[in-house]
Order: sequence, then C-alpha cells, then structure tokens
Amino acid sequence: MTDQAKTGRTGVAVLGIGVMGAPIARDLLHAGFDVTVWNRTKEKAEALAAQGASVASAPSEAASDVEFLITMLTDGAAVEAAMTGPEGALAALSPDAVWIQMSTVGVAATQRLAELADKRVGFVDAPVSGSSEPAERGELLILASGNPALRPRLRPLFDALGHRTLWLDRPGDGNRLKLVLNNWLAVLAEGMAETIGLATSLGLDPGLLLDTLAESQLGSAYATAKGRAMVKRDFTPGFPLHHACKDAARALDAADRHGIELPLTEALSKRWNEAISLGHGNDDVAAAITTAR
Ligand SMILES: NC(=O)c1ccc[n+]([C@@H]2O[C@H](COP(=O)([O-])OP(=O)(O)OC[C@H]3O[C@@H](n4cnc5c(N)ncnc54)[C@H](OP(=O)(O)O)[C@@H]3O)[C@@H](O)[C@H]2O)c1
Repeated sequence: MTDQAKTGRTGVAVLGIGVMGAPIARDLLHAGFDVTVWNRTKEKAEALAAQGASVASAPSEAASDVEFLITMLTDGAAVEAAMTGPEGALAALSPDAVWIQMSTVGVAATQRLAELADKRVGFVDAPVSGSSEPAERGELLILASGNPALRPRLRPLFDALGHRTLWLDRPGDGNRLKLVLNNWLAVLAEGMAETIGLATSLGLDPGLLLDTLAESQLGSAYATAKGRAMVKRDFTPGFPLHHACKDAARALDAADRHGIELPLTEALSKRWNEAISLGHGNDDVAAAITTAR
C-alpha cells in the first residue's frame, strides 16, 4: 500500500529545502498534503520533521509513492543532479506522477529537463515570482506551463502555494517569463543603487529621493522598498544577490542566442559579480548598493 493510500492524503515530495523550498513545504503541510522532503544538506530538511514532514535520505526515496514532486533547487545543474544523478528521483517516480519544476533555471535548462521527463512522467514548468515572505504566506505568483490536461489535478497544490497561477500556453513559457521579469528586477535594483549613489554625491538625502519616488509615477513599489533597504544597509536575504546574478547570466545567454544585446544587464552583472567576490552573494539583492560609487 502506498503512503498516500495509507494516509488518504496526496503525497508530495519537495527536493530542495532552501529559502524557498522550506516555506513551500510548510504551506503544503498546512494545506493537508502528505509531504516528504529531501535536501542535500540534511539538517535543513530535518528542521521540517517537527512540522509533520517525512525526511528522505535520497531523492529516490522522496520520490517513491508520491503523486507530485517539486524541485526547488539553485539551477538547472542542481535539478538535473537531484533527478538523474546517483539515487536520482526520476527513475523512482510512478508514471502517473507529475514533476513540478519550480526552480529558476532559464530557457535552455527548462528544455533539457522537460526532455528528461518526456515519456516518463508529466512535467510542468512552474517557476515563481515572489520571495520567501510571500512564499511563507502562500502568496506566490506561479508562472506555469505544461500539458493543459494536468491543470485540474494541480489546482489544489498551486492554490496552497500561490495567490495566483498564470497558465501560459507554450511549454517552457514559465521560465521564459520568469527570466524576463528577473531581468526587469535586476535593472530596477541596479538603477536604484546607482541613483542613490548619485543623490548622495550631490549632497541630497537619499530618503528625499525615496519619498519623492513613492509619491510619483516614476516610483516602483519594489525599487523603493529595495532603496530603503539599501539606505539602511539591511541586506537580510529575501532574494540573494547570487541568484539575481545567476538569472542575469541566463538572460544574457538567451539574448545572445536570439541575437540581441542587453547592455544594462551586462554592466550590472560585472558589478554584482564584484559584490559577490567581496562576500555579498548570500545577501539580498539590495547589496547591489555596495558597488555603487
Ligand atoms: N529566494 C528568492 O527570493 C527566490 C524567488 C523566486 C525564485 N527563486 C529561485 O528558486 C530557486 C531556489 O532558490 P532559494 O532562494 O530557495 O535558494 P537557496 O536557499 O540557495 O537553496 C538552494 C537549494 O538548492 C540546493 N542545491 C544547490 N546545489 C545543489 C546540488 N548541486 N545538488 C543538490 N542540491 C543543490 C541547496 O542545497 P544545500 O542546502 O545543501 O546547499 C538548497 O536546497 C532558485 O532557482 C532561485 O533563483 C528564488
């Protein structure tokens, strides 16, 4: 008898219990799913045991007997390792299971992962917009694409994680849209860091800049919030700089493949890599201010 049959609850495996995977697993537990978690560094997964999760020692163990498997890992290479490496999850999934790929991996890796899943299990590309706080509240925006026939089955799970699921038509459009949104986020964050630098060098209080933006059509709620964190030097990670930089690199790859240029993204990537080399990789993207001069 499967675990699902034993408990009467839908079994979900979550691979990757990091900043995003942990609140996602908690949301699923609160919504009544039967959750099994796996993380490369096992202690992070074990922290969820007290909240009712089963902790697996390998991806393959997490994948057996579940209806859904979520990957929420750093990048395409990490996802591929967890799915097809030694004790990988893919071979252990039942043919009826659905692999929900929520990591931000870019366009080429999404294509590759979809090919790995092809003919073995259902595959849905479903990256998310929103950081750890919206994830904790079950208020992510889910950018989903995949076989439309799977949508009704996925609805209860997505409803537990997000306030909205945006279903997109072409396979892989979830990661395409995510890449585009994060390119915009990067340009906003760097623009704010540089503009605070300019305001300061002109002898203006950066608070004046932020208050004026907040009351103007020029302002963006996201950029202004990041600006306030930059001024306070509060780099508590919501969205870590190393992830933002990884996404900028994937945007540059995609632009290159399509024969266009992203000069702003190219310029900010250099500066952000510098900030990472100075130890700000795990800090929030607000740490972009550290290279503004
Ligand atoms: N944080 C955000 O605000 C945010 C928002 C939207 C989307 N995302 C995206 O969501 C994904 C996860 O982000 P996160 O913030 O949760 O990242 P994170 O806290 O850095 O967690 C990364 C996870 O990936 C695992 N991992 C990394 N390399 C691995 C490998 N080679 N093999 C197996 N496991 C590996 C880590 O395991 P260990 O614990 O062992 O290191 C950890 O579980 C990323 O694609 C990110 O771009 C993040």
